[in-house]
Amino acid sequence: MLFLSVCSFGTACDAVWGKTGHQITAHIAQQHLNEQAKTAIAELLEGENMAAVSNYADDIKKIQAFKKYSPWHYVNFPFDERYGDSPVSEKGDLVMGIETCIALLKDSSTERSERIFYLKLLIHFMGDLHQPLHVGRASDRGGNDIQVRWYDQGSNLHRVWDIDIIDHFGMNYSEWSESLPKPNAQLKAKILEGNVIDWVHESQELSKMVYASATIGEKLEAEYLNTHIKIVREQLVKGGLRLAKVLNAIFS
Ligand code: ADE
Ligand code: ZN
Ligand code: ZN
Repeated sequence: MLFLSVCSFGTACDAVWGKTGHQITAHIAQQHLNEQAKTAIAELLEGENMAAVSNYADDIKKIQAFKKYSPWHYVNFPFDERYGDSPVSEKGDLVMGIETCIALLKDSSTERSERIFYLKLLIHFMGDLHQPLHVGRASDRGGNDIQVRWYDQGSNLHRVWDIDIIDHFGMNYSEWSESLPKPNAQLKAKILEGNVIDWVHESQELSKMVYASATIGEKLEAEYLNTHIKIVREQLVKGGLRLAKVLNAIFS
């Protein structure tokens, strides 16, 4: 059996909508599941909560047999186009990843081990969808190649949005989730409008703003944090509510 634990022992991790970000969206989603989804997911995850499995898709990236899923973490298409205007990536992308997970989970002939696997991936990918730079430019790998400073540390723009902003507060995922506003019914309905492709376009719009927010080598610190924290907080809430919407639809 493969024991999957990476990003430990001080290894350098690839920038990912950091561990905490994924845990937050998963935790929020868990609180918005309907009874059927709650029961089905608890049964598949065998006692683990959604936050606990929310980084599995990153943990398997380094394993050869799972490398084919790496392109599913992001989607890049020109900023003046809609998704699908140009031919989509043959290797797959975030949209294909999410749609494949949904289709396999809806299909009653999908084996249990596969259902568990694709559920974990879906929980993760719905988080990635809400990190604007996962819908960024291919040429700089979603900002991974844009080196910046975060306070006194070397970082890159992608990492700032995956990890640095969120972990700046030193809160764990449950403290973070507690600190986020609970949207009223009207706002929740507004957030849940649309589908995966609409949400990709929304993230791409934010991505344009993020690219415009910093230049190569710039030192990003308190002012940057103050300007952008609102968007990060909104994206975490949206990601959680929309993940619950998708899961509720699958399991009802
Ligand atoms: N990670 C690796 N390549 C990426 C890309 N092109 N966009 C976003 N994230 C990435
Ligand atoms: Zn990332
Ligand atoms: Zn990811």
